[in-house]
Amino acid sequence: MKKDQFDIIYFDNLDSTNNYAKKYIEKHEGKDICNKVIVADYQTKGRGSFENKWQSEKGKNLTFSIIICPEIFAKDQFYISKITSLALIYYLEAQGIVAKIKWPNDILFENKKISGILIENSILGDSLTSSIVGIGININQKKFDVDLNATSINIIKSSEYDKTKELEKILNSYIYVLNLCKNKRFEYIDRQYFNKLLGKREFLKYRKESLIFEAIIEDIDEYGRLILKERSGRKKIYGFKEVELVL
Ligand code: BTN
Repeated sequence: MKKDQFDIIYFDNLDSTNNYAKKYIEKHEGKDICNKVIVADYQTKGRGSFENKWQSEKGKNLTFSIIICPEIFAKDQFYISKITSLALIYYLEAQGIVAKIKWPNDILFENKKISGILIENSILGDSLTSSIVGIGININQKKFDVDLNATSINIIKSSEYDKTKELEKILNSYIYVLNLCKNKRFEYIDRQYFNKLLGKREFLKYRKESLIFEAIIEDIDEYGRLILKERSGRKKIYGFKEVELVL
């Protein structure tokens, strides 16, 4: 493998590319596991965040996991989320699609989900040893269950895409963001991530348990938590799962 490239392993079917990546890391202990990409044309048990399923029509979309070893501290692990969101945003922008990040790491186009990210980190002491970055991106699927509120590149652009070529473009975008992370360009990544966030300049509705309130994103703190400012001016910090944007 050349420097700055990925080794791609293709499968017709897997339960989940993230599950396969996890087993791959366990099986290759002490060997080079970094920069491997596991791609499946179909996942029988595709996993989403918060124990949700990831649904994707067979053969239509890209579902894959990248194993990376970015050599950062465990405390900085939200940077993996940030760079992954940015890689997808940059890739979509290059296709003429201006998408936004729904904190922490959903990618939306006109409030519909086009891509989801599931990151599973391995930590030893205060270091991140490896990270499995699972990505599902809707490429050619034309119909989705209404409750999924999803879209695809094909729907947006009214044209069929070659998935292999799109994967190559996404991986090129990933190499770029991974280098930002390896070179510790954290302030730049922070600014870029904040810029692409949905709700950074406008009051939107959020739900905390049964309470719905309007707020604007003030910032993202060093742990990746969301700092929301309500109309009253009151600011509050929310961790993952604590608050949800209502679309
Ligand atoms: C989410 O939005 O809830 C995250 C979805 C992540 C889906 C991808 S598809 C490839 C990888 N393998 C999985 O089982 N999940 C991730």
